[in-house]
Amino acid sequence: MFTNRYFPATRMRRMRRDDFSRRLMRENVLTCNDLIYPVFVLEGQGREQAVTSMPGVVRQSLDKLLYTAEEALQLGIPMLSLFPVIETGKDNSGEEAFNPDGLVPTVVRELKTRFPELGIMTDLALDPYTVHGQDGILDDSGYVLNDETTEILVQQGLCHAAAGVDVLGPSDMMDGRIGAIRSALEDEGFIHTKILAYSAKYASAFYGPFRDAVGSAANLGKADKYTYQMDPANLDEALYEVAMDLEEGADMVMIKPGMPYLDVIRRVKDHFKVPTYAYQVSGEYAMLKAAFQNGWLDEEKCMLESLLAFKRAGADGILTYFAMDVARLLKR
Ligand code: PBG
Repeated sequence: MFTNRYFPATRMRRMRRDDFSRRLMRENVLTCNDLIYPVFVLEGQGREQAVTSMPGVVRQSLDKLLYTAEEALQLGIPMLSLFPVIETGKDNSGEEAFNPDGLVPTVVRELKTRFPELGIMTDLALDPYTVHGQDGILDDSGYVLNDETTEILVQQGLCHAAAGVDVLGPSDMMDGRIGAIRSALEDEGFIHTKILAYSAKYASAFYGPFRDAVGSAANLGKADKYTYQMDPANLDEALYEVAMDLEEGADMVMIKPGMPYLDVIRRVKDHFKVPTYAYQVSGEYAMLKAAFQNGWLDEEKCMLESLLAFKRAGADGILTYFAMDVARLLKR
């Protein structure tokens, strides 16, 4: 009989044989507490639109979103992340971003009034508000201006904080914006407003369906975001970004996209040991969903496995368009 240092004394399959021992040795678990649900909000009333490139995902006006929020709360999902579809008021400077009567502050006020226990996060970036679809304001050459954009992001952050948002999610990748937003929040007395920094946000092609969903794809055209989002080739740079965002006052950090960047999550979690989140982005959702629809992959199993992988990589939570489906599944 074959033997080595371990075998046959050790047979790994012994522990895998029975359901009880598999459960006992399970190292990671996915619960509804790990989920953040990104939602697309429309202006107006009584409106709901399907997002073609994200089957099962809709854009909803506030009245319809209230039902979604109520179900999310009942399912035990801790937080929603709001993404506005801005149809009127886009310009070159993105000033609609800090209109106190704009779509996002209005939706935040209503959600926090109706469902105070449900966490609400908003995205800080100018891309839904600019005619060119970039996350900031441009100089004559088309370069996204850092410090000028940061000033607007600060206004946007204060405007959302005043509306009662729980968590600000700067997704713009301007340098120094976390510090600028944090000190403005402190100055204005918003000491409880949390910041979940999109610290390591890569210039990824997996954001395509999201840009369809918020309607920035057409505005952006063939332009890219390479001068501010990170190069997918880089890993050490992500640690540098996270270090700075923490120093500037971030409470939580995010790695984005998700599945192709699990190595980044692990490195960040091991190094900083702070609350670390992953964004399973629109393109990841779209590719899985397409395979489910074709019957090529098992929907429930692959959904759960893809999210469990984030827990194994060290993430404390995941922004995912599967949040509601997964929470319903976990409840069964
Ligand atoms: C915009 C923003 C993007 C996403 C979240 N916030 C797109 C981008 O940077 O172009 C992508 C989310 C997704 O793909 O699901 N600041």
